Amino acid sequence: MASVAVYPGSFDPVTNGHVDIIERSSKVFNKVIVAVLHNRNKEPLFTVDERVQMLKESIEYIPNIEIDSFNGLLVDYVRHKQAKTIVRGLRAVTDFEYEMQAASINRKLDPELETFFMMTNNQYSYLSSSIVKEVAKYEADVGDLVPPPVPKYLYEKYGSSPSDR
Ligand code: PNS
Repeated sequence: MASVAVYPGSFDPVTNGHVDIIERSSKVFNKVIVAVLHNRNKEPLFTVDERVQMLKESIEYIPNIEIDSFNGLLVDYVRHKQAKTIVRGLRAVTDFEYEMQAASINRKLDPELETFFMMTNNQYSYLSSSIVKEVAKYEADVGDLVPPPVPKYLYEKYGSSPSDR
């Protein structure tokens, strides 16, 4: 039976840390669906379409990946996609509390689903979409932090460019 996993997130924007998890999980599962959340609580910088587009441009070289977006409860979406596993990356102990809570509630909502954690590569343990946005906002270089297609989207949004410094 083909194993299908869902890697959900805000991806506002996708970082090298996300790409690391996507590449590695694509070797574990037959198919990985990268699913962008239509955030209601957080105020995202990018629209869902922009976040999906950045992901498409960034990971198009990986064959067994699908990029999609979802609304509502994650477990409903995972079931709808006939997947059985949720993939999440863990950067540091600070992620642990939230992730344990989320995995526990998701298991309560649907005991058939499993959450699969991957430790983010050490070199990305400090990296988050928020940090990337902060750096880009102040016109510093984000080239080492995000995949090559992403900086131009960030600088366009902020009307900035690292060369302006
Ligand atoms: O990249 P993020 O913001 O850490 O991703 C969080 C995400 C999308 C995994 C989480 O907010 C989520 O699953 N939201 C959908 C609503 C839901 O199912 N909530 C219950 C589980 S936390």
